[in-house]
Amino acid sequence: MKVQDLDFKKFISAPALSEKVRALAQKINQDYKDKTPVFLPILNGSFMFASDLLKEVKVPCRVSFVKTSSYSGTSSTGQLKTLIGHDESLFNQHIIIVEDIVDTGLTLEKIIEELRGLGAKSVEAVTLLRKKPAREKKIDVKYVGFELDEEFVLGYGLDYDGLGRNHKDLYKLAEKAPA
Ligand code: IMP
Repeated sequence: MKVQDLDFKKFISAPALSEKVRALAQKINQDYKDKTPVFLPILNGSFMFASDLLKEVKVPCRVSFVKTSSYSGTSSTGQLKTLIGHDESLFNQHIIIVEDIVDTGLTLEKIIEELRGLGAKSVEAVTLLRKKPAREKKIDVKYVGFELDEEFVLGYGLDYDGLGRNHKDLYKLAEKAPA
C-alpha cells in the first residue's frame, strides 16, 4: 500500500489486534475491579484503540480525551505540546492513559508528570504498541499489547503525515530493495 511517497505492507491483522485488545481489557478489568478509573486516550493516534478497548472494559469508568503532539513525518520532533483538553477533575482519581504507541516515551513521561502535578491518586498506562527506544529507556508501561523494534507503523489510528489512520489493520514501512 502506498501512502504519499512511502510503501507499507500489512503487519498485524485486524483479528489479531482485536484479540490483543480484549486481553488488555481483561487485565484492566481484573486490576480495577473495585475502582472507577478515568481513561485518558491521547489523541489523535489512540482513537481506534481506545474505542475498541473501552467496549471491553467492564468496570465503571470515565473517559476524557486529551491531545498532545510530538511527531512530524516518521520521526519524533522531541518537542511536546502540553496536555490539552482534560475536562474531568483528575484530582484523587485512578488514571489510565491510553496510548497507541510509545516510541521515545517522551509523550508519556510528560503526561505522567502533569497528571501527578494535578494530584491523581494513581497513574498507569496502556499502550497497544511499544517500540525499542522506550524499552531501552525503561519507560514504565503497565499494559503493553505488542513489542516492536523501530519500524514505522501506520493504520488502526496511526498516521503518516495525517494519512492512513482509517485502516483496520496495522501496516509497517516496507523495506527498500537494495540498490
Ligand atoms: P513518543 O513521544 O516518541 O513516545 O511518541 C509517541 C507518539 O508518536 C505516539 O502517540 C504516536 O502518535 C507517534 N508515533 C510514534 N511512532 C509512530 C509510528 O510508528 N507511526 C505513527 N505514529 C507514531
